Formats: sequence, structure tokens, C-alpha cells
Amino acid sequence: MTESPKTVIVTGGASGIGLAFCEHLANLGHRIVVADLRGADEAAGRLREQGAQAVGVRTDVVSEDDVAAMARSAESEFGGVDVLVNNAGLFTTLALKPFEQIGNAEWMRVMEVNTLGPFNCAKAVLPALRRSGRGRVVNIASIVPMKGPPNMAHYVASKGAVIAFTRSLARELAKDRITVNAIAPGFTLSDGVLQNDLHNRIGDNARTTGRCIQRDQVAGDLVGALAYLVSDGAAFVTGQTLAVDGGSVFL
Ligand SMILES: NC(=O)c1ccc[n+]([C@@H]2O[C@H](COP(=O)([O-])OP(=O)(O)OC[C@H]3O[C@@H](n4cnc5c(N)ncnc54)[C@H](O)[C@@H]3O)[C@@H](O)[C@H]2O)c1
Repeated sequence: MTESPKTVIVTGGASGIGLAFCEHLANLGHRIVVADLRGADEAAGRLREQGAQAVGVRTDVVSEDDVAAMARSAESEFGGVDVLVNNAGLFTTLALKPFEQIGNAEWMRVMEVNTLGPFNCAKAVLPALRRSGRGRVVNIASIVPMKGPPNMAHYVASKGAVIAFTRSLARELAKDRITVNAIAPGFTLSDGVLQNDLHNRIGDNARTTGRCIQRDQVAGDLVGALAYLVSDGAAFVTGQTLAVDGGSVFL
């Protein structure tokens, strides 16, 4: 590879879009820390079998203790952290419902995983990113804050917060030579979507017809955007949200 290898933590990296990120970055020669509630060791083991440098850490992104241990594992295994990909999120298991039927606990749980999670992880990894001298944070947002679809108000609000957080952090961390960007996927046939039959509940507009490129989106459609934001060539790009959605919104 012509790129310098980096150590990359991917939260929610054991399945779905996160696993596709891990596999692609591993193929590019990067060192991978798979951080997930479940399946992290197994996913890292499969990456190692394919010749990658990878370690798995069982992590709940909501837990300060867990994310501190995640950062320590990355440092002890690979000597530092260059990139944090905040991918773990609650989406595919959510029931679609009118906002007045969303209970307060449900609202807070989505906010907890989708907004406190990235905040926790960024804080835990910040000292290592500062030492890296070429740190990157990539937050996985969504195009839903731009489209405002019904029946998922908690999720839409949480991803709007992720985009706002991205912008604020970009300004704060530029002095440390850390860039902070977001990727906004369109509706993607991830493992979780397929397991929860969400693709058959979401409607054709989100899935295909609302796009310029009218086909289903798969996790592999997103990996090139992440590779770009992680690359040496993206060092002057920060605070941005890159929509990867077949052209359903224009940012
Ligand atoms: N699939 C889509 O259509 C779509 C669209 C836009 C954005 N996104 C975002 O992309 C990301 C990945 O989505 P996906 O479809 O691959 O989801 P998924 O449900 O298939 O996978 C999510 C992964 O995150 C892990 N996870 C969940 N809660 C966690 C926690 N508290 N701590 C650590 N790990 C946790 C799960 O174990 C799982 O491995 C999410 O942030 C989601 O909001 C997805």
C-alpha cells in the first residue's frame, strides 16, 4: 500500500456496516480494533485468518469503563490509535412508530447509544489521537436528518446530533491535527436490517425510488468513503458530512 498503515478502532465492527469497514480497512493494510457488544473477538479472529493485524474488544460504547478498556487495548496491542470510527448505533432493532408512541425511556436509550456513545469513545481515545499527530474521527451519521422521515423521530434526532457533534469537534480538535468528519449512509441492507426485516417495512422511497441511482444500497457501497476520510490525502478535510446514498439528498 502507498498509504501509511494506521490503527483504527471501529465500534459496532463485528457485523453489518461496521464489519464491512473493518474488512476493507484491513485489506488496505490498516491495523484494526473491533469494538462491539457481541462478536468482537470472533470478527477480529476472522480478520487475522485473512492476514490482517486485528484485535477484538467487547465494548458497550455507553460504558465509560468499557471505552477506557477499548482505548487501552488498542494502545497495548498496537502502540497507539490513529482513527476512531464511531459506527455503533441503534437503528435496525427499532420499531417504526409515530413520535407520540415513543416512550421517554426508548427516546433516551436511542440518544444514549447514538450520541453518548460517540462522545464517550471520542473522549476515551482523544489522548491517543493527540499523540498520533494525524488523528481522525469518523462518525457514522445518516441522511435522515436531511430528509426527516416519519416514524423514527428519536433516531432522526440522534443522527442530527451526531452531525452537529462532528462540526463542533472538528473546530475543537483541529489544533491537535485531528480531523472529524461524518459519513451519512442512505438506507443500507446491513446484517441488522435483513435480520429485523426492516427492508420490507421501510418503504420503496427510502430503499430505492427516492434515489438517483435506483437500487438497494449495501455495506460495500460505504467502504470507499471511509477509506478516503482515513487516507493521508484527506488531511485537510474536516467538519464535513459526506452523503453516500445513491443521490437521495444533495448536501
Ligand atoms: N443500515 C442502514 O440503513 C443505516 C443507514 C444510515 C446509517 N446507519 C448507521 O450505520 C451504523 C451501523 O448500522 P448497521 O445497519 O450496520 O447496524 P447493525 O444493527 O447491523 O449493526 C450494529 C452493530 O453495532 C453493535 N452495537 C449496538 N449497540 C452497541 C453498543 N452499545 N456498543 C457497542 N456496539 C454496539 C451491534 O452489536 C452490531 O454489531 C449505525 O450507526 C446506523 O445508525 C445505518
